[in-house]
Amino acid sequence: MDSIQTPNGDAPKLSEWVKQVVPTETVLRHPPLLPSAMTSLLKDSEDRSLDETVELVEHDETTSARILLWANSASSGAVEGITDLKTAIMRVGVGSMVQITLLSKFKSFLTVPLKTYGISGEDFWMHAFATAVAAESIEADLSFRVSPECFVAGLVHDVGKIFIDRYQEVFASAPMDRIENGDGELARHQQEVDMYGLGHATIGASVARHWGFGPTVVDCLAHHHDTIDGNSPEVKVLQLANQIAKSIGRKGGGDLVDDELNQLLRSLQLDMHDYEKIRNRSRNKLTKLAGTLK
Ligand SMILES: [Fe+2]
Ligand SMILES: [Fe+2]
Repeated sequence: MDSIQTPNGDAPKLSEWVKQVVPTETVLRHPPLLPSAMTSLLKDSEDRSLDETVELVEHDETTSARILLWANSASSGAVEGITDLKTAIMRVGVGSMVQITLLSKFKSFLTVPLKTYGISGEDFWMHAFATAVAAESIEADLSFRVSPECFVAGLVHDVGKIFIDRYQEVFASAPMDRIENGDGELARHQQEVDMYGLGHATIGASVARHWGFGPTVVDCLAHHHDTIDGNSPEVKVLQLANQIAKSIGRKGGGDLVDDELNQLLRSLQLDMHDYEKIRNRSRNKLTKLAGTLK
């Protein structure tokens, strides 16, 4: 495996740099959606009235247009054209409306090439998108409820990579080596930890905390590359979603070897038959939603 090019001697430690950058970075001071709105969208969605829900998104033309598109798509079951947002939200349901809003808000933020990892902007976005969709698709086969926050955790789970990439760009002495894709995300995460003392999981958790996400999302991001024992059900759902997203992605494959995947599935009371069903469901929903997000 190629190593990451070591930053030059004058560079601050990654941990120190992250502490300074996260609160001051322009894009983090102005996240894709205000934390209060994100929290509001994720929680209490069943208690909120339809009018209040409409108010949260009606000022945003792009998101409103995408919700209307989804409501009018064949998959939503609409028989006649829907032109107003309230009817569209009633048609798609508040849960799907929240998901489309989050996807819409984060799409441009997460479509960013990561040179250090050799990942194109499109591939980085598609992995985030697919992990969110897979996280949501798992619940139907579980015998217990998991937090709807797994969807957003899936969407932003690798956000820490943006910071490692930026740090490398600013401080590494040229030419910068790339981390080999072939060794998988888990190996790359370990490489980050070995090199810097922290990886994209820890950085992502501090970004999520800064954005105002609750403990479930922060915990999911912090532990998504930990070994399976001792993790919360939500972390396990995110780990499985990450694996599914990889397996249905452009390059295929996944980070977990068969034993690890079987252990993870067993810990969620699932088997390989369920896994294949979830993969198919995720792939179908991804295809349908991708059309809405164009
Ligand atoms: Fe990751
Ligand atoms: Fe990932």
